[in-house]
Amino acid sequence: MAIPEAAPAGPGSGRGSGGGGPAKLNPADEKQLNRHPVSLRRIAALFAPHKGAIAVVVLLITASSVIGLAQPFLVRAVIDDALPHGNTRLLLFLTASMVGVAALTAAIGVIQTWMATSMGQRVMHTLRVNLFTHLQAQSLGFFTRTRGGEVQSRLTHDVSGMQSVVTSTATGVASNLTTAVATAVAMAALSPGLSLISLVVLPPAIWLSRRVAMIRRDVTDERQRELAALHTQVEEGLSVSGVRLAKTLGTIPRDADRFRARSETLVGLELRSQLAGRWRMATMQIVFAAIPAVIYLAAGFPATSGGMTIGTLVAFTGLQAGIFRPVMGLLNIGVQWVTALAFFSRIFEYLDLEPQIRPAAHPVRLDPAAVRGDVRFQDVHFTYDDGTEVLHGIDLTLPAGTTTAVVGPTGSGKSTLASLLPRLNDTSTGRVSIDGVDVRDLAPEDLSRIVGVVSQESYLIHASIRENLLLADPDASDDQLWSALAAAQMADTVGALPDGLDTLVGARGHRFSGGEQQRLAIARTVLRNPPVLVLDEATSALDNTTEAQVQLALERLSAGRTTLTIAHRLSTVENADQVVVLDAGRIVEAGTPDELRAANGAFARLAAHTAQQEDNAA
Ligand SMILES: Nc1ncnc2c1ncn2[C@@H]1O[C@H](COP(=O)(O)OP(=O)(O)OP(=O)(O)O)[C@@H](O)[C@H]1O
Ligand SMILES: [Mg+2]
Repeated sequence: MAIPEAAPAGPGSGRGSGGGGPAKLNPADEKQLNRHPVSLRRIAALFAPHKGAIAVVVLLITASSVIGLAQPFLVRAVIDDALPHGNTRLLLFLTASMVGVAALTAAIGVIQTWMATSMGQRVMHTLRVNLFTHLQAQSLGFFTRTRGGEVQSRLTHDVSGMQSVVTSTATGVASNLTTAVATAVAMAALSPGLSLISLVVLPPAIWLSRRVAMIRRDVTDERQRELAALHTQVEEGLSVSGVRLAKTLGTIPRDADRFRARSETLVGLELRSQLAGRWRMATMQIVFAAIPAVIYLAAGFPATSGGMTIGTLVAFTGLQAGIFRPVMGLLNIGVQWVTALAFFSRIFEYLDLEPQIRPAAHPVRLDPAAVRGDVRFQDVHFTYDDGTEVLHGIDLTLPAGTTTAVVGPTGSGKSTLASLLPRLNDTSTGRVSIDGVDVRDLAPEDLSRIVGVVSQESYLIHASIRENLLLADPDASDDQLWSALAAAQMADTVGALPDGLDTLVGARGHRFSGGEQQRLAIARTVLRNPPVLVLDEATSALDNTTEAQVQLALERLSAGRTTLTIAHRLSTVENADQVVVLDAGRIVEAGTPDELRAANGAFARLAAHTAQQEDNAA
């Protein structure tokens, strides 16, 4: 049988509890710890509020190991004292004690598990909530940089992994340690000679079972990876976007072949994994039979027996069988320690992120209903994380209640400029103000009421139309929802649906067309009724009727509000009070549409180009 090379286990291959098998250092864990070391003091601080509970748990674990040791001594008394002399009273007492001791240790075990788990859960709860709220405060840049799924995995997988490592591994280590030490002491007390023999027998037995377990673990790891790959393919391949991609790229047969090959590989791996598991059980059976056999053998030879009683011999073999597991468990401590630290490291790494967009320490309150909506950009520079400056000194005034169209080639910085107003990004230098107040000084809840955004991707949550609209205003009545839909040119469409407002929008809004999704997003903004508006028009051409509807919805929405619109359509630009031409992060022209056309500069060229494109499209 080929034994696969040890390979990094994915984060999905669960481990952590004591168990019997040896654990393996995960290279990803080591890398994580090198990148973001963890201080023990910080971990201790997490558990500090639960000091009392921890002390009780340790006490319970020690008590249960020590009480459990009474068992072999009771057995010895039964065999040596009660049975040979027909002492039924003593026999009754001893056997009742045996059951009593078992019941007591079992009860202690339950209480200890309850205490340890509830403490672990409480620490996990605190961490989970801290992490969630901390990540919410991160800027868009953080989520742009971070691989999809990574954030979610840390919040769910790592936090719960940390909890299971803490409760099961920590209590496992404590109980293994106390059991091993107490058993060893009891063995030495019963028979020093046989204890010496154990010292010789145990190591090879432990080595053998670890060896077999390691082979099994490698096969299982590989199976796990294949299973995960299969899982990913199912997830990606059988989703709306996945099926669309596969059908349009014509990769369906190729995907099927890949799936078949994976599934085939799994057949072999499953078989090997099961067999290796069977081998492991067989080895353990042999080891567990062999160890007492060696002890009985030694007890039969006068040189090693030391004249012990039968009862002592039986008690001793019982103890010896009981030391095997805890010692095996303790051998994994090192690896489990690293695993646990890596869990903490991944969580702390996120908690240590400094949010780039910080809420004002002493926010200036502006009543959204009383805001006039005078917007100014003053000498605004903006640099993305990667160090490239995208905006180089923008000066721009948007008078209250007017519409300003920003035009310019792709990549010129239009979306970046717009993102500064709702504080999706903060200026590197310079300031953006509303009614003279720097947006960075505004309370976040005021800013989100003052500035409304309709962007190229309208994000709808997987819920009903009503729930999507209520996000904007939880107290809105159905009448208000319908009039918002009417303003967004969407009332007829929704009214024609059998379920009306209760229609589910589907995953990410796939139930609706792009234009409909956009109009739902517009209705949402109508409900919020913000005095300042940022519109990032869709670049993709909608069909003429839809475009006209969206256009009308947007015009109604922007009436009377200070509007910054990123325009790709000539009609939008024509209706604007002011047009700004952006090129490579600089304003190269500004004025009314008529002025700019007369100037016959950058805007005139852009307009001619767009008109030609729109003709071609029509
Ligand atoms: N998160 C980011 N990190 C680094 N650079 C970015 C980031 N987002 C945008 N850029 C860069 O900033 C520049 C301006 O981008 P922006 O999205 O503002 O352009 P745009 O004018 O809106 O273009 P389009 O018309 O295509 O929407 C581009 O060169 C882009 O590559
Ligand atoms: Mg853009």
